[in-house]
Amino acid sequence: MMTGLIEQLSAALGKQYVLTEDPDKAPYLTDWRKRFTGKALAVLLPKTTEEVSTIVKLCATHHVAIVPQGGHTGFCGGATPDNTGKQIILNLKRMNQIREIDTANQTMTLEAGCILQAAQEKAAAQDFLFPLSLGAEGSCMIGGNLATNAGGTNVLRYGNTRDLCLGLEVVTAGGEIWNGMKGLRKDNTGYDLRDLFIGSEGTLGIITAAVMKLYPLPISQWTTLVAADNIASTIALLTLFQRRATSLLTGFEMMTQESLTLNEKHFPQMANPLKGNPPFTVLIELSDHESEDHVRQLLETILEEAFTANLISDAVIASNLSQANTFWHMREHITLAQAQEGANLKHDITIPLSSLDSFILETDALIRKNYPGVRIINFGHLGDGNLHYNIAPPPGVDHKIFNLKHEKPIQELVYAQVERCQGSISAEHGVGQLKIGDLRAHKGEVAHDLMKSIKMALDPQNILNPHKVVSI
Ligand code: FAD
Ligand code: MLT
Ligand code: ZN
Repeated sequence: MMTGLIEQLSAALGKQYVLTEDPDKAPYLTDWRKRFTGKALAVLLPKTTEEVSTIVKLCATHHVAIVPQGGHTGFCGGATPDNTGKQIILNLKRMNQIREIDTANQTMTLEAGCILQAAQEKAAAQDFLFPLSLGAEGSCMIGGNLATNAGGTNVLRYGNTRDLCLGLEVVTAGGEIWNGMKGLRKDNTGYDLRDLFIGSEGTLGIITAAVMKLYPLPISQWTTLVAADNIASTIALLTLFQRRATSLLTGFEMMTQESLTLNEKHFPQMANPLKGNPPFTVLIELSDHESEDHVRQLLETILEEAFTANLISDAVIASNLSQANTFWHMREHITLAQAQEGANLKHDITIPLSSLDSFILETDALIRKNYPGVRIINFGHLGDGNLHYNIAPPPGVDHKIFNLKHEKPIQELVYAQVERCQGSISAEHGVGQLKIGDLRAHKGEVAHDLMKSIKMALDPQNILNPHKVVSI
């Protein structure tokens, strides 16, 4: 029966786009963090939406589950198959065309397998900004960004991927093609199907194309690193920048001393340029469509106010684009430094800004009391209240042994603190298979059951990414 399916798929896609040999499948089976490895009956590489539709229909007939996959950079194992070897991976990388840039509507229509960086570059070539920006942009794909509702470093000004999307094309669990590709900024015609598919992590439909918003390209950007002694000052600094720079504030990223110490250990060229690597380093970016001088003067004025109010003790403004890029690289390399250090305990959380100070002080104290010597690698998109509150074992302690023993209690501690502050246990990375067991307790029964009802209505056969996000 399975041979029949592979033959039918090969006839539909072309044999070379149906990978069934182990060495060919291997690159698609392990997630970026190397936390999950699965098996697959085949890896399929379709080129068109019609081919995706044919795949879904054939798999539905043969009761074979499909794991949609983009750049496979997700952090929750959503794009990794299970261990049965009975699921197929549907990787969208060959569907990488930018179909259109509509300059009047300020939109870009592109296929799901388009690499994020390619989309940014294409937009920039036409004097537009496509604002979605994250460390994985060289390999993650628009379909994956939409399916995870990715966040990144520009959210405080332009919103999450959801906020950037106007239209979608989706292949449903029945293999039908839903054309929701109108690039409208207003459309109140009943339930919002687009928003249902965004963030559904491949469990409700396969995104094949999208209409995304574009913005005018800023002509001037200034980037600075500043030193703060404590989290309260860092939050007060955010408030100051939000009030004074308003929409010109396009980046506000926080890195703790321990995060940058780890970075320097693995990437000595990424050492913190601020004297003594202070307790908190904040990367701030202002962008403007007016003159260079206007935004530079504004930045200097706000920094002076911050010094006067004792919110910061040091600051360095990037003098050119290359230095600004170095600051951003330092921020983005923390994830890579953590990966080099060994498997680490990641918590991607959001806390309301009003509780962020007490969250960090209390959680840090609890962690340090219960797990002496651990390193709290806390960094993230502070402007969104989004912390990557990660825990690494004390130096010299084996990561695997530490994690085996302490992962669960540490996670329970952090999540209890998140609940106390009415935060979220997944700010931007999604649920996948990593957090599926935590969802019911976190969302509450009503919300969880509503999610299950939606899954059952849209995918009654449970063939789209089963046992990810919610199990039915
Ligand atoms: P994949 O990992 O391939 O898939 C992710 C999920 O989406 C899976 O459940 C998959 O089944 C589903 N999916 C993929 N494509 C489709 C499709 N076409 N239709 C339906 N479902 C689909 N994330 C952030 O939010 N912010 C960050 O700042 C950030 N920084 C990162 C930095 C690094 C160095 C790395 C490695 C990752 C980072 N991530 C970040 C996580 C990751 O890059 C994002 O989640 C990204 O959106 C995933 O895109 P992808 O194409 O790799 O998707
Ligand atoms: C980031 O903001 O750098 C990413 O979300 C990656 C991470 O959490 O490590
Ligand atoms: Zn992040």
